[in-house]
Amino acid sequence: MGAAALILAAGEGTRMKSTLPKVAHTILGVPLVRYALRAAHDAGCERVVIITGHEAETVESLLPDETCVRQEEQLGTGHAVLCAADALADWSGSLVVLSGDTPLLRAETVRQLIDERERTGAAAVVLTAVMDEPAGYGRIVRDPDGELSAIVEHKDLAPGQHDISEVNTGTYCFDAAVLFEHLHRLGNENAQGEYYLTDIVAVLRAESLRVATVTTDDAAETLGVNSRVQLAEASKVLQRRINRAHMLAGVTMTDPDLVWVGPDVTFGRDVVVEPMTFVMGECDIRDGAILGPDTRVTDSMVAENAVVDSSIVVNACVGPGATVGPRAYLRPGTVLKRGSKAGTSVEIKNATIGEGSKVPHLSYIGDADVGEGVNIGAGTITCNYDGVRKHKTVIGDRAFIGSDTMLVAPVRIGQGATTGAGSAIARDVPDGALAVERCEQRTIEGWTARKRAEEDPDGE
Ligand code: UD1
Ligand code: CA
Repeated sequence: MGAAALILAAGEGTRMKSTLPKVAHTILGVPLVRYALRAAHDAGCERVVIITGHEAETVESLLPDETCVRQEEQLGTGHAVLCAADALADWSGSLVVLSGDTPLLRAETVRQLIDERERTGAAAVVLTAVMDEPAGYGRIVRDPDGELSAIVEHKDLAPGQHDISEVNTGTYCFDAAVLFEHLHRLGNENAQGEYYLTDIVAVLRAESLRVATVTTDDAAETLGVNSRVQLAEASKVLQRRINRAHMLAGVTMTDPDLVWVGPDVTFGRDVVVEPMTFVMGECDIRDGAILGPDTRVTDSMVAENAVVDSSIVVNACVGPGATVGPRAYLRPGTVLKRGSKAGTSVEIKNATIGEGSKVPHLSYIGDADVGEGVNIGAGTITCNYDGVRKHKTVIGDRAFIGSDTMLVAPVRIGQGATTGAGSAIARDVPDGALAVERCEQRTIEGWTARKRAEEDPDGE
């Protein structure tokens, strides 16, 4: 049977002390709310509704393809769920409720909740965890025969209840119809004056409806992010989980504590990721590539056996066997073809560097199309911007660009053409030609000695 999911993401997250809503804070480059969304999708939920409220536009901008429902006033988690009643009026069957601030929750665990509800026919299944430090969480209160009887929020605990180490993780699977039928019974007579979703447990029990629990054996998975300290803790857990999976699949990480890999990165076999390397966004890193040390790769493809050393690569494509760095900056639209090179202190933007072509030192190549087997001398710059518009530079196969050439775009260098070092080339160069633009050199014999004599006639 299918399941739908409801993600609660309307809260401000006061404890973050931030102008950004809590669920927009990121872990490994991905906003918290998107982790809940991912867990719901991966668990097989065929429909997802997200409750937004505080700074709703900001949160909704992170969820462009999703159904969001506004909770205009944040009156509590129970009230938040009630806001989705219309959006889910036609849904019957399992409804998973997730918090937008629980990024470590695994899809398998969500699936377990759905399966448990389907197996038992319970009105609700609550995911619980046993914690060494349960402070801050709602506690699980069981009756003498071990059945869940109520969830008590930390601020509403009675003396003696503080020792309860089993907590509510804020993750549930409900019978949607039963849930919406009983939600209006929630009150707000509690320490926070809020409509708590957690009170639904006592309401359902009073009706003799069945409420089951699933207890996770991995309490870390249910960590709720309420403060920046917990944000850092969750980042660390996720970093370890992701790196471990990649290492088990054949990626070498010399020091995995110093490697940060986002959840949307794929690696081939025998990739090596050296310390202080960040691989974020959607990346495809193919077999045998070496990244780092000290490297950032974002939303890019790095092909087989390419090497990126101490460099930044954003929205770019590094071809097979190509080498990048040290200290190169490949900006959006860069395509390095097979065996090409972007060397030391080289910046490339919106440009293709053809097969086997080399840009070894201190160059800026922007808005350019460089052919195959081209050599670009040190200090070459494509002057692509005239202050109003960007213009293109085209360099033919096997051309040789002398050091410190200024290529004033739009300009076209023919196949096999050569430019003299230090030239400002503003006009097209035909195939096979040499273009030099340089003042005649003057050489004055004996000049140094005469100059010194003038300045110091006594020779002291
Ligand atoms: C909640 C649970 C607590 C549980 C803990 C697990 C309640 C009353 N308490 O507490 O039992 O141990 O999660 O992490 O549910 N939200 C809204 N609208 C609101 C209020 C909150 O959408 O009006 C959203 C928040 O954005 C957040 C989630 O609901 O994503 C949980 O709210 P939060 O304030 O963090 O609840 P906790 O105090 O952590
Ligand atoms: Ca929380």
